[in-house]
Amino acid sequence: MHYNNIVFEVENNLAIITINRPKQLNALNQETIVELHQAFNNANKDKSIRVIILTGSGEKAFVAGADIKEFADYTVEEGTQLAANGQKILFDFVENLSTPVIAAVNGFALGGGLELALACHFRIASDNAKMGLPEVSLGLIPGYGGTQRLPQLIGKGRAMEMIMTASMIDVKQALAYGLVNYVVKQEALLPFCEKIATKISQNAPIAISVAIKAINNGVKKDVNGFQTEIVEFGNCFGTRDFNEGVTAFLEKRKADFSGE
Ligand code: CAA
Repeated sequence: MHYNNIVFEVENNLAIITINRPKQLNALNQETIVELHQAFNNANKDKSIRVIILTGSGEKAFVAGADIKEFADYTVEEGTQLAANGQKILFDFVENLSTPVIAAVNGFALGGGLELALACHFRIASDNAKMGLPEVSLGLIPGYGGTQRLPQLIGKGRAMEMIMTASMIDVKQALAYGLVNYVVKQEALLPFCEKIATKISQNAPIAISVAIKAINNGVKKDVNGFQTEIVEFGNCFGTRDFNEGVTAFLEKRKADFSGE
């Protein structure tokens, strides 16, 4: 598949999606959002891919936000549509993907860029990264889930401050907030993410996918996360993953989940 705005690479059982508009600091225009949807969808359908890493090209930015030039003359209806469509095809889509997604935050993650990192299952940053939701400085609010996912992750008071001040935080603060799990030197970012991805890929893929679902359901209003956990825990007993994992334990060998 050919993409204009992203690079899609597969290494063994790992997919790396790189947003590739470095001159615009990888700002998310509509075409990029559609291409990201396609890439995530294709990677998720390919059962040989166990983990997806999302990053930005260049050394300056992960993503500097939604493309401001594209929505500069939008109407109320167009603005509503921008947020609704983006949330549906990319941000909610990534959050609910059954394949784990790691955001490798390699520089500025602002506005829609931070919102995209928040939609990923967890985040690892390079030491030059800066994060913020500057929308109120543009007369907007975050439109790609930032008002919901940021307080869920770092707490309401901190999210209120970040959104109201429109200020950027550095990695020291992001780490203290739990916004990112690790901070590493820029040149070490992808190797470090790949190391964690390899660990993940050695575990049972069906179990991982339902763990993502149960964790995500914990913050949804219309479903009960504990009930999801009970049902999905039970379902695990009917999977090949469970059969292999428990058999390997009893036979004192390492489980091999590569056949899923
Ligand atoms: N949209 C469109 N273009 C962008 C962009 C964005 N979000 N961010 C950067 N660019 C472009 C700049 O316009 C510039 O292009 P030109 O060379 O053609 O002028 C190029 O990228 C390089 O940017 P700068 O020259 O500004 O680089 P800098 O180092 O001086 O500053 C920055 C870097 C602080 C990140 C600055 O670019 C900036 O503040 N960007 C905007 C950040 C922002 O407000 N993001 C939120 C967008 S709104 C949103 O995301 C809404 C939503 O939730 C749905």
